[in-house]
Amino acid sequence: MSLSARQRVLAVAGITLAGLLAGAVPAATAQSVAAAPDIPVANVKQHLADLQSIASANGGNGGNRAHGRAGYKASIDFVKAKLDAAGYTTRIEQFTSSGSTGYNLIADWPGGDTNQVLMAGSHLDSVTSGPGINDNGSGSAAILETALAVARTGYQPTKHLRFAWWGAEELGLVGSKYYVNNLPSTERAKISGYLNFDMIGSPNPGYFVYDDDPTIEKNFKDYFAGIGVPTEIETEGDGRSDHASFKNVGIPVGGLFTGASRTKTSAQVQKWGGTATAFDRCYHSSCDTTTNINDTALDRNSDAIAHAIWNLSSGTTTPPTGTVFENTSDVSIPDNGAVVTSSVNVTGITGNAPSDLAVGVDIIHTWRGDLVVDLIAPDGTVYNLKPYSSSDSADNVQTTYTVNASAEVANGSWSLRVQDRATYDTGYINSFKLTFP
Ligand code: TRP
Ligand code: ZN
Ligand code: CA
Repeated sequence: MSLSARQRVLAVAGITLAGLLAGAVPAATAQSVAAAPDIPVANVKQHLADLQSIASANGGNGGNRAHGRAGYKASIDFVKAKLDAAGYTTRIEQFTSSGSTGYNLIADWPGGDTNQVLMAGSHLDSVTSGPGINDNGSGSAAILETALAVARTGYQPTKHLRFAWWGAEELGLVGSKYYVNNLPSTERAKISGYLNFDMIGSPNPGYFVYDDDPTIEKNFKDYFAGIGVPTEIETEGDGRSDHASFKNVGIPVGGLFTGASRTKTSAQVQKWGGTATAFDRCYHSSCDTTTNINDTALDRNSDAIAHAIWNLSSGTTTPPTGTVFENTSDVSIPDNGAVVTSSVNVTGITGNAPSDLAVGVDIIHTWRGDLVVDLIAPDGTVYNLKPYSSSDSADNVQTTYTVNASAEVANGSWSLRVQDRATYDTGYINSFKLTFP
């Protein structure tokens, strides 16, 4: 998904979808926030050595840690033991895929506001052809060490932290889809963001940031800008890792990536060094071992992960203040069909609505150009928020519009009116929210 100019402007103003989804909280007064610790890359590498040993002991011929194989379950047990010892609340979620039992590991750090959950996840399975140390021991080990750093430093974030290691990603994001599908919708709604790390130590690395939620993206970019490392937007297959499972249900996502089988261009070699060959020549093959890691990339990405997790969970990104009226009931939008509405009843506001009424729109849709979106005031006045566009093929309408509603009496029933005007793609209203300053 590419971001609209509006989303970027709002992100700069500190008003983001993530902030809006998190609910209205009074502006935080200036407070000092613990800076993220440096993540020791030696510890991350030790986890990779341990995962390599697990693979080597399972499956012969260099081994593997693939779904349905002994090396996968041993990997889960290895990560779980470290988290249990550090004080995490862990659970293993079982599912079945291709006739074998699969496992997700979910680890919660006790404390924080459980209505605002920040998640970080990585797939722990390899392909059958190799030990999967870059893909994806790298992400798995980096979030493990970040979780251990949370415990070591006694970090007590404002938000609640949850880490996850997914099974059967290589079979089509199976584990993360299972998790999202089996999470009650009330629990889903509490997830303010999901950060994904899949392949972050590629031997001929690029520094790629997912172009999704603006706040998450900015956090990563700021980190890399601070250490003088240029980044690019990730384009080697959006939707090719577990963040897609979360994005599909409207959860703000982001992540990091150092490249897979695609070839590094000469311009990228100028920028990052290395050679004009594949970012990872051992992608999905038996040579994806501990020698298939660039330590500098692993180190920088591990530190970027900690930076983002600390920042995004500390609660100092200020959500909009004011009085919020929100309707979170899902309303399905019939394909090329009748108008549908979601309404909120505004009460207790004196006089007229403001000239900068914040209209939070969260619509999940597979081709948003199909949609005409209007705000309807209590007296029936129509404010068009988004016109029909035959060419806008992007997913979802997830943004905050600013409407000059000063001609309207504030109190009464306001509606979000949506009509799908072209066949094939469909979706639903996830939430509609008005914020009165
Ligand atoms: N495990 C992913 C896969 O095999 C690796 C990958 C490829 C990836 N392209 C990506 C991960 C882009 C994140 C983003 O498909
Ligand atoms: Zn992967
Ligand atoms: Ca349609």
